[in-house]
Amino acid sequence: MKDIIIIGASGHAKVVIDILETKGEYRIVGLIDLCRKKGERFFGYEILGNDEHRKDICHQYGIGHLFIAIGDNWLRHQVHQKIISTDKDISFVTAVHPSAVIGRDVIIEYGSVVMAGAVVNSSSRIDRFCIINTAASIDHDCHLKDFASVAPNACLGGNVTIDSHSAISIGATVKQGIHIARHTVVGAGATVLDDLPGEVLCYGTPARVIRKRQIGEKYF
Ligand SMILES: CC(C)(COP(=O)(O)OP(=O)(O)OC[C@H]1O[C@@H](n2cnc3c(N)ncnc32)[C@H](O)[C@@H]1OP(=O)(O)O)[C@@H](O)C(=O)NCCC(=O)NCCS
Repeated sequence: MKDIIIIGASGHAKVVIDILETKGEYRIVGLIDLCRKKGERFFGYEILGNDEHRKDICHQYGIGHLFIAIGDNWLRHQVHQKIISTDKDISFVTAVHPSAVIGRDVIIEYGSVVMAGAVVNSSSRIDRFCIINTAASIDHDCHLKDFASVAPNACLGGNVTIDSHSAISIGATVKQGIHIARHTVVGAGATVLDDLPGEVLCYGTPARVIRKRQIGEKYF
């Protein structure tokens, strides 16, 4: 078993921890979090410190593998940038729950998580640091680009492309063949029937663009 540290200590991190424990490929040494105090316990693990001391902590525990368990797509990206700017040798692992159904010829890149009950169908590609949340359904030939996310119970038809950092919220549906550009948020329960431009917030059935959104704007 390889030792690993989890970055982040939130509800999302709990789900990631559960997946890694269930898989049993990695031993979780502890967590690093911006907001919690060193020595505090979270979900049975010790907070080893905050991000300022990450490099020293990894060195102290001989850690070469991390998982960034941060649900917000932009924040996850920023934390990743910070890590690779100071530590070129670190590796990022992939977490796929054993109950997820992964079709033939699916590619799931490092740093991504696929949660319990999700389906990623044939020939889909999940790039780096994506989140496929609980019971989400990604049909054949979809492409999620880096730091994109699909929330619980959201559903993508075949041949859907979600560009980087975009988020499909809980229970939303995206028709087959749709392209959603970067940094766009599709709101909870929306039904997307047309391509969407980048940096917008949209929701409704059928989904309409409500307004422009700033990169990094919160959506939970
Ligand atoms: C789309 C979203 C980001 C909008 O958030 P927001 O800009 O803060 O919007 P507000 O909550 O201030 O609501 C503003 C108005 O839009 C409406 N609205 C917000 N989201 C909506 C949605 N998904 N569908 C329909 N109407 C919506 C609200 O009812 C409100 O209407 P009102 O002014 O008539 O009262 C948010 O609703 C959402 O869906 N977040 C993602 C949730 C999610 O997926 N969570 C799971 C993560 S694992």
